[in-house]
Amino acid sequence: MRAVTMIFLILGMLLVHGCTNAELQRFEHHTKADGSLTALVIGDWGRKGEYNQSEVAYQMGVTAEKMDVDLIISTGDNFYPGGLSDVNDPAFDKSFTNIYTAPSLQKQWYTVLGNHDYRGDALAQLSPVLRGKDGNWFCMKSYILNTGA
Ligand SMILES: *[C@@H]1O[C@H](CO)[C@@H](O)[C@H](O)[C@H]1NC(C)=O
Repeated sequence: MRAVTMIFLILGMLLVHGCTNAELQRFEHHTKADGSLTALVIGDWGRKGEYNQSEVAYQMGVTAEKMDVDLIISTGDNFYPGGLSDVNDPAFDKSFTNIYTAPSLQKQWYTVLGNHDYRGDALAQLSPVLRGKDGNWFCMKSYILNTGA
C-alpha cells in the first residue's frame, strides 16, 4: 500500500513537473566571469521596517557585500500581514524600496508570492507598474531562472 502510494506520488510529481516546465517562462541571469553565482535567499519579510526588518536588512547588506551577491531570491510572504492592497500601496516603498538600501542589495530580486500575499491584491505584486517603480523588483507566480556565463 505504501509502495503504491509512493509510486503515485512520484508519478504525480513527474507529471506536474513535466507539464509546468513546458509552460513556465524562462529568464536569464548571467553568472560572474568565472562562472560562479551567489544568491541570497529571504522570505517572510515585509514589515515596514518593524519586527527587526530594518536590522536584518542592514546585516543582509553587510553579508551581500562580503559575499559579492549576484541576485536575491524571495520565497514569498513579501508584504505582511495581507500583501499589497494595489500597485499604489505605500507598503511597497515602506517594506521594500526604503528598507533594502545597501548598495550590495541593489540587485535583481526574483520574488514569488506567499499565502499572505494572496490575502491582498496578488496581481499588484505581479504588475509591471512595480517593476517601473523599483527596477530591483521582479515577481511572477512561477518561472524558471536560467543562469549561464
Ligand atoms: C528585535 O530584536 C531584539 C534583539 O534580538 C529582540 O529583543 C526584540 O524582541 C526584537 N523585536 C521584535 C519586535 O521582534
